[in-house]
Amino acid sequence: MNIELNNCSVRSYRITDVESITLNANNRNISKNMRDGFPYPYTLENGKWFVEHSMSLNPETNFAICVDDVAVGGIGFVLHSDIERVSAEIGYWLGEPYWGRGIVSQAVKAVTEYAIKTHGLTRVFAVPFAYNRGSARVLEKAGFVLEGTMRRSAIKDGQVLDQLLYAYVV
Ligand SMILES: CC(C)(COP(=O)(O)OP(=O)(O)OC[C@H]1O[C@@H](n2cnc3c(N)ncnc32)[C@H](O)[C@@H]1OP(=O)(O)O)[C@@H](O)C(=O)NCCC(=O)NCCS
Repeated sequence: MNIELNNCSVRSYRITDVESITLNANNRNISKNMRDGFPYPYTLENGKWFVEHSMSLNPETNFAICVDDVAVGGIGFVLHSDIERVSAEIGYWLGEPYWGRGIVSQAVKAVTEYAIKTHGLTRVFAVPFAYNRGSARVLEKAGFVLEGTMRRSAIKDGQVLDQLLYAYVV
């Protein structure tokens, strides 16, 4: 998969992405906003496992966000099953030096459209922590609508947190 956007691209992972993914992912300002599966510190071993795992997935659901074809972030979706097989959850992160350029807003829009088209979905949703204003803004810019607050639905670093439920439906 390869989608060219204004100032970035979203493409399939390559084994040569391990170093730049690790370098950009190894950041507490990123990991603190992610699920616990996204470690800190983020080691080369973590990067290698993740890139290889993503390359092995069929269908492909994890992609690199690239600037000048260098992988500096990640975006992916989890396809749900059974009666929720028309739904998927999207997640994303970007290396801190690249924040504020509109990159992830564009990437979320493009990958949402890709997921809907490729998998016949009716809904893509995301659940940022309620305090994560940057992520909420990304979702709004990508056309997602706030459906509500999932009160006290998650625990991160020992703190119970609210999550916002955003969805894009067709
Ligand atoms: C959240 C994140 C993905 C945003 O990526 P990005 O490429 O910088 O996002 P964009 O530039 O497309 O848009 C960010 C928007 O949020 C706004 N924003 C950023 N931080 C903000 C804050 N603290 N409060 C309010 N708005 C904020 C920006 O101003 C921008 O909106 P604008 O274009 O209207 O000015 C990136 O900061 C990141 O990787 N954060 C850590 C991981 C994370 O939070 N992942 C999401 C988990 S749900």
